[in-house]
Amino acid sequence: MAGSLVERTARAFGERFGIAPQRLYLAPGRINLIGEHLDYNDGLVLPAAIDRYICFAVGPGGDADRCEMVAIDRDEHVETTASGDWQPVPGHWSTYLLGVLHGLRERGHAVRGFRAAFASTIPMGAGLSSSAALCCGFAFALDRQFNLGLSRKDIALIAQQAEHAFAGVRCGIMDQYASVFGEADKVIKLDCGKLEHELVEARLGTHLLVLFDSHVKHVHSASGYNDRRREVEEALHVIQRAEPEVRTYRDCTPHMVERMRAELGPVGYKRAAYVVGEMQRVEEAAQALATGDMIRLGKLLHRTHQGLSAEYEVSCAELDHMVAETMKQDGVAGARMMGGGFGGCSINLIERNAVDRVVGTVAARYRERFGVDMDVYPVRIVRGVHECSGE
Ligand code: GLA
Repeated sequence: MAGSLVERTARAFGERFGIAPQRLYLAPGRINLIGEHLDYNDGLVLPAAIDRYICFAVGPGGDADRCEMVAIDRDEHVETTASGDWQPVPGHWSTYLLGVLHGLRERGHAVRGFRAAFASTIPMGAGLSSSAALCCGFAFALDRQFNLGLSRKDIALIAQQAEHAFAGVRCGIMDQYASVFGEADKVIKLDCGKLEHELVEARLGTHLLVLFDSHVKHVHSASGYNDRRREVEEALHVIQRAEPEVRTYRDCTPHMVERMRAELGPVGYKRAAYVVGEMQRVEEAAQALATGDMIRLGKLLHRTHQGLSAEYEVSCAELDHMVAETMKQDGVAGARMMGGGFGGCSINLIERNAVDRVVGTVAARYRERFGVDMDVYPVRIVRGVHECSGE
């Protein structure tokens, strides 16, 4: 699949600019096994890069200052200059790329003219981090094009900053880390407080990870994402006033949250209870993964869904229905909504030989209830952003 994407991107670059691209890059989307909404709460998360990509074709500019960017799938072209005064373009793909240019300049990295074109196999608004792949892929490509000497961590941070400053989403760092640091068949165990990670073998035994796309689209600049972040930060401040030794949610216990229930108020209590509970689940899930205990891992995934739905309130009727129907099927270890929420995909841990049956039943029930055909994406865990040759 990456092969045809790379070919398509190279061909479109050639047709547009009349020359072949100098280099081609692939930046993957991501899944998250568990640890949802923990990245901006200094927690541990377990994401991985998957075989859905944004491909960039890049070459030198027509002149030293001219920067041309083409979104092949939309047949749109945006032009700026390397010395430009870049401003966000709300709701438009170019805002992410301009945000990366801006982030590079803020760190003292100068680019010159270039031509870039990109195409994607990551469904947008499906919770698979197409925007992180876009920003990471672009920053990586510019780093190689202009020998900027950026580390992978720099690239992740510049990409995150583009989301904050230009796209208006106060996202955490998980998506960018996954897109940049992914490795084949490995889950990234990322400590978002310390920004340190280790790679863990994705030993799923006879189980497969399969995504079901609800086709409910979200845009995090307009969803409740930033609100959740604010609410959970406020709740932490309430806890800190009573417990001055608490620096982050990592220092909080479920007992502490219970004790503070009245002070936190109903919303603050639910948000804090979710975060503290999820932190415990991630620890348990990491152990379950290490011992290959898929039944335990699956139960934890489902408990996360319940927390995301009832306590963090980032699910929706469609995802709740899909997860409930999936959990009723034999051969399913666990299911939950994945990513920022308010739509997107569920992630499902299913016995290999039960997948077709489960997909058939859940898709039929989803269609009956919502009149929509869900999409199904089997997941392969792949390496992070890289230059490609002959893929
Ligand atoms: C989105 C954000 C991430 C993370 C997840 C929820 O994908 O971009 O930083 O917060 O939601 O885990």
